[in-house]
Amino acid sequence: MARINDSFRKLKAGYLFPEIGRRVTRFCEENPTAKVIRLGIGDVTEPLPPAIVAAWHKAVDEMADRKTFRGYGPEQGYDFLRQAIVENDYHPRGAQVDADEVFVSDGSKCDSGNILEIFGNENKVAITDPVYPVYVDTNVMAGRTGTADDAGRFAGLVYIPVTAANNFVPALPREHVDLIYLCYPNNPTGVVARREQLQQWVDYARANDAVILYDAAYEAYITEAAIPHSIYEIPGARDVAIEFRSFSKTAGFTGVRCAFTVVPKSLMGKAENGEKVSFHSLWNRRHCTKFNGVSYPVQRAAEAIYSAEGKPQVRAIIDFYLENARLIREGLQSAGIQVYGGVNAPYVWVKTPGNETSWDFFDRLLTQAHLVGTPGSGFGASGEGYFRLSAFNSRENVEEAVRRFRKVVG
Ligand code: MLT
Repeated sequence: MARINDSFRKLKAGYLFPEIGRRVTRFCEENPTAKVIRLGIGDVTEPLPPAIVAAWHKAVDEMADRKTFRGYGPEQGYDFLRQAIVENDYHPRGAQVDADEVFVSDGSKCDSGNILEIFGNENKVAITDPVYPVYVDTNVMAGRTGTADDAGRFAGLVYIPVTAANNFVPALPREHVDLIYLCYPNNPTGVVARREQLQQWVDYARANDAVILYDAAYEAYITEAAIPHSIYEIPGARDVAIEFRSFSKTAGFTGVRCAFTVVPKSLMGKAENGEKVSFHSLWNRRHCTKFNGVSYPVQRAAEAIYSAEGKPQVRAIIDFYLENARLIREGLQSAGIQVYGGVNAPYVWVKTPGNETSWDFFDRLLTQAHLVGTPGSGFGASGEGYFRLSAFNSRENVEEAVRRFRKVVG
């Protein structure tokens, strides 16, 4: 009988969002007339902007014509998209990123898990707590951890608490670490890191030969001018950081699938014999071996995000979700609830009333208000006593959700 990867057995039975889905499905089966509003998983609700749809259609038509049909594309992504990315997302912000350092992919979730393949198992990994669960689970699957304790913390990982006391930006670790996951604007807390805070991390990584895995999937939601959108806006970051970006929340691509990862050519690691090796070459090798690229029409659709017509259309949708976030934040605040985030991010991080546990509050909100959020403890032990509300929904549903929430806690 073939042997399983035993590391999978260390994981909790289900990934957080499917677990929430199961509970909600059960509730709906038992209460078929309940009008449930979902502010749980951060999944977009608004249709794709017209410029993106037009570019996608046009590319499909090209695929239907022998003269313009395309087969396999470059594994790393078409030049037209890689170029549009660096010219729009990086160069105007003074961040030096070259087009051939951009690897187009089908999602940041996949990339942030797959990236572990180019790092040795002996690296010490630091993870903030609470955190996007993919970072933890992929390390467990890859056999980089021991088992979890009662609070769900895995032996072998260095957890760095992010709490209200440190404004949800972690302090530097006391022990040496080699890999550091940072996500700003942060999922799940919705807060941002200031330039000087990111500089501290870059300086730490340079001093410790560490690598920062920087998840900037929500950068399009930054509203404050002084907040960096990319780790590469921070001097020295090119030598110590990999950045993940996604079109999912930027342009409504959760169902379309297109993202990218930047691996600078100056980022080096050490081989067993002490030789310096470029992570860019390893990731390129991995990408070419295991991935055949994102489909041509989808890359044309992504390119349209940066077009003159596309830009304002995409911005309008982001502003729409940010207004939802404001309504949630202010609606809860005026009911006396402590909330964080939601200014530069589509997530509002809510302190549960009366120290209720995250899952108790989840169940109460579902049964009494028919409202779904995400229990903070699902993101890590330090998320206990918190609850995440997503701003991705229609205006009508968000307004109704706030009314119901206030009624339950009032
Ligand atoms: C979330 O709700 O945290 C995200 O939608 C999950 C994801 O992007 O994979």
